[in-house]
Amino acid sequence: MATQYFTYKGVLFPNQEYSPETLDYIEDQFQVRDDDVFSITYPRSGTNWMLEILSLIRCDGDPSWARSVLNWNRAPCIESKQGLEVALKYPTPRLLSSHLPLQLFPRSFQGSRAKVIYTLRNPKDVLTSLYHFSKALRLFKDPGPVDAFLQDFLSGSLSFGSWFDHVAGWLGLQGQENFFYITYEELQQDLRGSVGRICHFLGKELSEQQTSSVVENASFQTMRENQMSNGSQISDTIMDHQKGQFLRKGVCGDWKNLLSEEQSHRVDAMYRERMQGLGITFPWD
Ligand code: A3P
Repeated sequence: MATQYFTYKGVLFPNQEYSPETLDYIEDQFQVRDDDVFSITYPRSGTNWMLEILSLIRCDGDPSWARSVLNWNRAPCIESKQGLEVALKYPTPRLLSSHLPLQLFPRSFQGSRAKVIYTLRNPKDVLTSLYHFSKALRLFKDPGPVDAFLQDFLSGSLSFGSWFDHVAGWLGLQGQENFFYITYEELQQDLRGSVGRICHFLGKELSEQQTSSVVENASFQTMRENQMSNGSQISDTIMDHQKGQFLRKGVCGDWKNLLSEEQSHRVDAMYRERMQGLGITFPWD
């Protein structure tokens, strides 16, 4: 079982599936194309939900692709060894994903017209989802007691680094024409409206009926039943399926079942300190 991490330019990555060589390649040599669409997230922020939505939009609401091709082949994660292989063979136009913080993202993105959709989620729910998922995902170390995990979250000692750095880095691109951000909470509150906003950003028009099909097929229940999206195909060497589910609860506010009042205040304090400068109000504020 690989529970070891390596540090690359100050950010932790799991040894299994990631390597400094691949990260070097991604940063310096990976060629972003103008017609690439990237879905970017900090882990457990709604990555696979957004990938399902984007897959369905790409097919005008037709669920055949989402039901027949694994999500990590529909939108490979460029920084993992396996994902990079798929990305390099992917015919144009590519749908790609990444958990990389902005400073490690391909340099060739700068000046390109590739589109980035950044999905973020209430950090307390990210922490909670990540805590449970870390028990099952063999790539991540066991979370240990909640308080120790909270400390790791606040200090950024987790895979892909600090949530606060990740969000502040990417949201620094707000206002750029090829950058769009949306929250997990907005997807929950109004999936149909969110699909419309995503389509608008992508320059894609869907009919009412096609939009309804996207909404229906990207629902938590439908995704849970879709073997290509529900994580059931993740190999046992990567995930212990007895210890957790990829699509776990799919709700907002589950942090209240994990964090004490004092622990929640600690996240709030760091959040105020780090996020104030962004000048954005989020649904959880
Ligand atoms: P929970 O652990 O809180 O249930 P990621 O894909 O970035 O790993 O994020 C996983 C989180 O998104 C999980 O949160 C998962 O249940 C949730 N999720 C995935 N698909 C969803 C959907 N269709 N609707 C709501 N939540 C979804």
